[in-house]
Amino acid sequence: MDIDQMIKDMTLDEKLDFIVGPGLPGQFGNDDVEVRGTVGIIRGVKGLPDIYLADGPAGLRIFPDRPNDENKYYATSFPIESMLASTWNREILKKVGEAMGEETKEYGVDVLLAPALNIQRNPLGGRNFEYYSEDPLVSGEMAASFVEGVQSKGVGTSIKHFVANNQETNRMKIDTIVSERALREIYLKGFEIALKANPWTVMTAYNKVNGYYCSQSEHLITKILREEWGFDGLVMSDWFAGDSGAHQVKAGNDLIMPGKSYQVLDYRIDEREEIKNGLEEGILTEKDIDEAVRNLLKLVIKTPKYNNYNYSNKPDLEKHAKIAYEAALEGIVLLKNNDVFPVKNQKVAVFGTAQIETIKGGLGSGDTHPKYVINIIDGFKEKGINFDEELYSIYKNKIEELRKEKYKPYHNDLGHTLYPRLPQDIIENISHYAENNDLAIIVISRISGEFFDINIKDFYLYEDEIKLLKEVSKEFKKRNKKVAVLLNIGSPIEMASWENLVDGTMLVWQAGQETGRAIADIVKGNHSPSGKLALTIAKKYEDLPSLPFPVDGEEVVYDEGIYVGYRYFDTFKKEPLYEFGYGLSYTNFEYSNLKIENDEEKLYISFDVKNIGNLPGKEIAQVYVRAPKGSIDKPFQELKGFEKTKLLNPGEVENIKISINIKDLSSYYCDGWRLDKGKYEIRVGASSRDIRLINKIIL
Ligand code: BGC
Repeated sequence: MDIDQMIKDMTLDEKLDFIVGPGLPGQFGNDDVEVRGTVGIIRGVKGLPDIYLADGPAGLRIFPDRPNDENKYYATSFPIESMLASTWNREILKKVGEAMGEETKEYGVDVLLAPALNIQRNPLGGRNFEYYSEDPLVSGEMAASFVEGVQSKGVGTSIKHFVANNQETNRMKIDTIVSERALREIYLKGFEIALKANPWTVMTAYNKVNGYYCSQSEHLITKILREEWGFDGLVMSDWFAGDSGAHQVKAGNDLIMPGKSYQVLDYRIDEREEIKNGLEEGILTEKDIDEAVRNLLKLVIKTPKYNNYNYSNKPDLEKHAKIAYEAALEGIVLLKNNDVFPVKNQKVAVFGTAQIETIKGGLGSGDTHPKYVINIIDGFKEKGINFDEELYSIYKNKIEELRKEKYKPYHNDLGHTLYPRLPQDIIENISHYAENNDLAIIVISRISGEFFDINIKDFYLYEDEIKLLKEVSKEFKKRNKKVAVLLNIGSPIEMASWENLVDGTMLVWQAGQETGRAIADIVKGNHSPSGKLALTIAKKYEDLPSLPFPVDGEEVVYDEGIYVGYRYFDTFKKEPLYEFGYGLSYTNFEYSNLKIENDEEKLYISFDVKNIGNLPGKEIAQVYVRAPKGSIDKPFQELKGFEKTKLLNPGEVENIKISINIKDLSSYYCDGWRLDKGKYEIRVGASSRDIRLINKIIL
C-alpha cells in the first residue's frame, strides 16, 4: 500500500471513520461481529478490512458462545500478571506471550490489548492483579518479554495504561498529581523499558496527570513517548476516555476507542462531529488528522486481517495449557515454612471454600473464559495428595446449599457473574478433623476487578476467617500437628496479625485454569517453589507510603514521590513483613565470586549461584545498586538487574552474567537525567534484604 497516496485519496469523513471506532461490538449482546468478545474495531474504510482488538493480560478475552453456532471458542486462562511477575522469568513471559499471540491470531483478532504495566502503588489498587510489580524494572522487563512473544506470531499488543493509572476510584476523571521525577523514574520507566520490544500500540490511561487527561496530553504522548523515546507505532485511548476527541487527536492519540457513536452507553456526541468542530475552531489541523491516519495505516498493513490470514479457530489449547501450568508453577511464592511443606504422605484436612471455588483471576477486561479451571482440591486429587474426603464432601454440599439461596451468584450491570463471599466458619467439630488428619491446609481467597478499588475490609481477614484460622490452629497444634495457609489472592492482604497461628504460608495467587495442578505439585514437593515477590508486603496498612488510598475525590497526590514500595521501606528504615524480592525454596543457594567490570557504556557483573541444598531448584538472583548522594535525595538502593537460574541440581553452579547500562543509573533532575559521579555500591542478593555479595565501583 502506498500510504501517502492512500491518505490523499481519503475524504475527511473517511479519515474520521478510521480514527473513531464504531462502538462496542460483540459486548452487551451486540452480536454483529465475527469474534464475540471483540471489544474494539478499527473501521475498514476504503476497502480495508475491519481490524479487531480484544483484551487482555491473563488470556484472550473472547466469549466461548456464539449465536446459532454449536462450536465453543475457549481461550486459555493464564496466571494473572502479578503472578507472572513473581516468576521473574523472561523466558516464561515470552512463552505465555507466544501462546496468547497464537490464540489471538487463530481466533481472528489482530491486536491483543495487553500487557498492563502500571505500578502497584498500594495493595488496595483494584487492578493490581492485572499489573506486574511495584518496581518499574520488573514491570518493563516482564512486559517486553510478553510483547516479544505475542508479536512473534504476527499480531499486535497494546502496552497499557499510559500512565499513572494506579487506582480505580473515579478512574475516568481522577487527576494524578505527581512530580516529574517520580513520573520519570517510577511510573513512566516501565513503559520506556517495554518499548524495546516494539509494541505495535500504546493505550493511554483514563486518568489525568497533573491536570491533563493522558489521552489528551501532548507532554506525555508527543513529547515523551514519540519525541524522546522514538515510539512510532499507534496510540489509542482507553475505552470512553477523556472529554474531547479533538484534543486527543491533537495530542497524538491516533485512535479513539471504542467510539461513542454506537450509543451503547448513551454517551455524549459522536467524536467525529466533535473533531470536525475542533478543526473549525482551530484546536487541531488536518495535518494532525493525517498523522493519526498514517499511524493507523501503518498498523493495518501489519495485521493478519489485511494480509488475508486464514485463521483456523483452532489454536493449540492443549499446548497452551501446559504453558499456563508452567507459568503458574514458577509464580507460586513460598512465604513461610516451618517444616510444613512439602507435604509428602501425610493426610491433609483442607479447609476453606476456595478449595472448590478457587479464584482463577480477576474481573473486568482482564477476565478470561477458559474451557475449565482446575480448582485446588481437583489438583490435590490429580497429584495424589492424601486429603480428607469426608471434610471435602461436607464443603461441597455446604457450598451447593449456600449458593442456592442466600449466596446465590448474580449478574451485575457489566454482565459479570458475581459470587457473594461465603462465610468460612461453616465447619463444625474441627477437633474431629484434627484427630483424623496429620496436618491442616486452609485456603483463603480474594477477588477484585476493574472499576473498583479494593475495600479495606477485604484487606483484613473477616471475622469468620479468623475464627476458622484460630480453631483449626488450636485443634491441630494441641495435637502437635501443623497448619498452613494457601493465599489465593490477586494483591497482598494483611498477614502479620495472624501468621503466628500457622506454620506455613504459600502465596498461590490466582493462577488461571491450571491453578490446582501447579499448587498441588509445589505442595507435594514435585517441584521446589521458585517464585519471589515483585512487591513489598507491609506489616501494617498504616506503614504504607501511599496513604490515604483510595482517594475519593477529584485528585490523588503521589506525595511519596519516588519512594514507592521497597524504595520507601529501605530508605526510611521500615521493616516490612516480607520484602521485595523475597521467596523461599525447598533448597538453598550460595552466592560467590562477584566480579564487576565496566566500559564507557556498561557495567558487566558476574557471580556464581550454587545449589547447596538437597533438592533441585531455581533461584532468582537480584542486583541492586546504591547510588552516591547527588544534590537530590536518592533511594537506599534500586533494582537494576535480575536473572533466574536454570533448574540447578544439588551441588550444581551457574555463572550469572548481568550487564547494566550506566545511563540507567541516572536520576531525574529538574533539567533531565543526570548521572552523579562517585562510588556506586553493587549489591547482589536473594532478595532486597538478603544481600549476599557487595562491591563498589567508581563512576
Ligand atoms: C480497560 C482496558 C481495556 C478496555 C477494553 C477498559 O475498561 O481499562 O484495559 O482494554 O476497557 O476492554
